[in-house]
This record gives sequence, C-alpha cells and structure tokens, in this order.
Amino acid sequence: STQVLRCDPTSISFDSTGKPKVTSQDTLNSLSIAAKNLVDLQPVAFPTETVYGLGALALDSSAASCIFSVKGRPPDNPLIVHVSSPDMLHTLLPSSFKMPQSYELLMRRFWPGALTLLFPSDPNTIPSIITANQPTVAIRMPSHPVARALIALVNAPVAAPSANSSGKPSPTTAEHVRRDLSGKLNVILDGGACDVGLESTVVDGLQEDGKIRVLRPGGISVEDIQETLQEGFQDHALVPQVLVHRRDYRDKELEAAPTTPGMKYRHYSPAAPVTLLMTTSAPPEKVVPSKAESFLISLKNEMEPSAFVKVGVLVLTNSILGTLTLPVVDGIEWRRYELGPVDDPSVTARRLFDGLLTLDQQGVDMILIEEVTETKEGLAIMNRKGLYDIIYNHYTTVLLFVHPNL
Ligand code: TXA
Ligand code: MG
Repeated sequence: STQVLRCDPTSISFDSTGKPKVTSQDTLNSLSIAAKNLVDLQPVAFPTETVYGLGALALDSSAASCIFSVKGRPPDNPLIVHVSSPDMLHTLLPSSFKMPQSYELLMRRFWPGALTLLFPSDPNTIPSIITANQPTVAIRMPSHPVARALIALVNAPVAAPSANSSGKPSPTTAEHVRRDLSGKLNVILDGGACDVGLESTVVDGLQEDGKIRVLRPGGISVEDIQETLQEGFQDHALVPQVLVHRRDYRDKELEAAPTTPGMKYRHYSPAAPVTLLMTTSAPPEKVVPSKAESFLISLKNEMEPSAFVKVGVLVLTNSILGTLTLPVVDGIEWRRYELGPVDDPSVTARRLFDGLLTLDQQGVDMILIEEVTETKEGLAIMNRKGLYDIIYNHYTTVLLFVHPNL
C-alpha cells in the first residue's frame, strides 16, 4: 500500500555546498524513508516547484524502468534527470563537453528552477532507457527544498517525469498523485501544492547554429529567457535567437530540428473533452456571433441529446466570461472553477491542472476553458490544453463569440 508522508519545506535549508539541513524530525524521517526506497530501486513521488515528480535513480536502468511501468509511459519518450548541485551535473557530462555561454547564463539565472536543458549524453554514464536512445539527455536542478534535499540525501541523480498516469494532466498536489497512482508505489512525499503548477521549460541550445530551441514551453517564460540572453551577451550581434511555436505560428527552423521527441506527445488531457472558448482572439471571419446560450444547447444536444449534462467551466476571474452569471439552461448543470485574474498568468498556471483534475473528479461530461493571452506563463498554459493538436489537425473546434449579453 502507498504511504503519504508529510514534509515541511520550510524546515529544510542548504549550505553553500548544497548540503541540506533539516530541522523538523518528521520531515527528516519522511525524507529518509523516501531516500531508502530510491536506493532500493523503488520509485517515489515527490514535490517539485513545477509539478509532482515520479522519481527513481537515473543511473540504474532497472530503477528507471519502474517509472515507465507505473506511469504506462511509452518507452520512446525520454526522462528528465534531476540534480541537486552543479557538481552533480558535471558528473553526468562527457569530459569533452564545453558549456555554451547561453547555458552558463541560463543556469546562473534560472537554476535551481523550472528550466530543463539538453546536454550531450555520455552512453557510458546515462542508461539508454533514460534518453530513449537520443544522443542528448535532459537535465534540471529543481528549487523545491524537498526535491533538492531528497536528491542530495541519495547523493545521486534522480530521473523523474510528472507523477501521473501517461496521458492525464500532471499532479500539483500529493492528493492528485494519490488518486491516480495509489497502490502502484510505496511512498508519496507531501510537500504541499506546487508553486509554478506547470512543467519546466525544455530548451535545446546544443545545435550548431547556437540558437535556443524551446521544445516545451513551461514555468520559465520565453520572455525571461530572451531577456537573460540579451543582458548576458556583451556583443549584441551574438545574442542567440529563441525559437518557439506559438498558437498561430509554427516555427520552421524549430520544426526542422532533428530531435524533438518532447514535441511528439500530445499534452495530457482530462477524461472529459475540452473546448476552448476563444473569447478574445478568434479571427473575425471565423467568429460565430451566436448567443452563448444557444451554443451551449447545441453542444449539449450533440453530446447527449436526452440526458442531463454536467459542464465544467474554467474561467478567468475578471474577464467577460468570468463576470457573467452562467445561464440557467434546461438539462445543464454547471461546475465553475476560477483560474485567477486576466493579468496574472502565473496564478492561472498554478491552478490549471488542479482545475482540470477537480472538474474530472466532479464527473463533468465536458469542459469549457477560456483562452489566455500567450505572454509569460500564458504560452505554456495554452500549450497544455492540447489546443495545438486541435487547431493544427483541424479537428472540430468551436470558436465561440461570447456575446456580452449572454
Ligand atoms: O517540471 C518538470 O519538468 C517535471 C518535474 C517532475 O521535474 N517533469 C516532467 O517530466 O515534466 P516529463 O517526463 O513529464 O516531461 C519531460 C519532457 C518530455 O516532453 C520529454 O519528451 C522531454 O522532456 N525530453 C526529455 N529528454 C529529452 C531529450 N533528450 N530530448 C528532447 N526532449 C526530451
Ligand atoms: Mg509529464
């Protein structure tokens, strides 16, 4: 059976060498039990500042293979290796590797934190199960005290995907992990809700052209990456370009990148179908200026003509949609979840997965979600909704014009 063990992140501090000091005895006990499981090659779920991770010793193939079976993860999707110090990073790198200046700058600014970097993988060090036979390995140093302390205690790199069954939204609380994976692992460390709420940004800066390829938008924004590079390169002509896909823009050079397994897999979706409400950005010629009420009735009839339908709505607090009272429609029961203010995408990032998982838990038949502007965390938020798939595959999508007098 699965134990959920409390850890108090505020009881953990680090000295200048990265050695953890834990003042709470309970937290130390929890960490020790988790560390023992890892050393015994058992997977453990633990909090990071982004999402909860399902960890196992990265340098042991059999430990790492447990991750794939617990999650039901396809073997060709590589894992991120987590380190607790720069020294631990260097034990993983081939001796011939010369750190690019862009990486020096990005690590100085964002490590520990929600940035994952690709490095050349030394096949004598990194098991092929971790890299899925890619020539590169993805590495990050998490800032969450529980994650860092756990890695430091086992004194070995820890591979960790998000601690969810493959295909589901990532967990941002220990309770999300328990609901999904209980019985499939021994220990879940509970360090409270994740601060960032979305996975790390995955960056490849290894290509010959020196450009920074954002393979997965995430907790560290593209704007912050650009700013760091602009400030760090003395010679402005040398500032590397940052390549990233946006909703209305597929970057050709990024598309042509030789190894982007991170982009192959669809982003996780909840059990209920999700529809994006394009409340602000729908192109005028595609806008259907219908009343939202008649739209909802037709959606319901399409889904379940006769039965009662539970509809989950994820809205921003102070948007047109968020300030409306949801209409009383025969046969529709609303479940509403607020994603925070329009002008603070970091709150929306923190709440998104909990919103999707909470609505699923409430048994909704469909989820409507309000769009977010693609600035800062907004880019990663829009990426997580699986909307790229919907839009680029010309899948059925509903462009709703939310009429102000809904
Ligand atoms: O925030 C996070 O990154 C969380 C926490 C637990 O650290 N972890 C996480 O892992 O999101 P996971 O496995 O769910 O996502 C790892 C992503 C995938 O998109 C994977 O394809 C990509 O990183 N990735 C890993 N290794 C790669 C490589 N060598 N080349 C390209 N992409 C890689
Ligand atoms: Mg994941």
